[in-house]
Amino acid sequence: MTQYANKILLAITVSVALAFLYQSDARAHSDATGVVKERMMLMEDIGKAMKQIAAMIKGKSPYDGKQIAHLSSVISERGGDHLTKLFPVGSLDKPTEATQNIWTQWDQFSGAALQLTERAKDLKEVANDEKPIAMKAFGSLAKVCSNCHQDFREKKE
Ligand code: HEC
Repeated sequence: MTQYANKILLAITVSVALAFLYQSDARAHSDATGVVKERMMLMEDIGKAMKQIAAMIKGKSPYDGKQIAHLSSVISERGGDHLTKLFPVGSLDKPTEATQNIWTQWDQFSGAALQLTERAKDLKEVANDEKPIAMKAFGSLAKVCSNCHQDFREKKE
């Protein structure tokens, strides 16, 4: 019973965390330039990887542990310094959705960037374990995305 409740909770967490990925990509970013464009592209890469993993976790495409491990690396490689170096102080050129508090709460922001790498590595490690274990790791990873967006991105999900 508890396990069942946990599963439902997890499913809800994951779908809330990822809801923003399924909103239409109507936002026009073709006019973004420089570092803002680069970080949007980085985010889109990890967004794409998350969508593919989510499809396997949800059973919409065949579960492939090897592919999940690969996609997890795509994400982990883009966390930490790779992410934070694309946020030089005050880089708020339109059409950015980044918020000013990134630089007043830099420790928290860069901590979240590190967590992204850590949680993606965790998922990679368990990708070939039983599905519920991978699902839990995926849930933790998805939470890192949504927490950082809640705190540091204009568009909340
Ligand atoms: C350390 C904080 C942080 C983490 C962690 C993070 N993001 Fe982001 N994300 C941002 C910020 C800030 C923006 C807005 C960037 C901008 O508009 O300049 C953003 C924007 C995005 C966008 C929109 C890109 C665009 O074209 O405008 C997507 C998609 C996205 N993130 C997906 C993800 C996913 C998926 C994860 C987790 C696997 C994730 N992000 C983790 C901070 C983060």
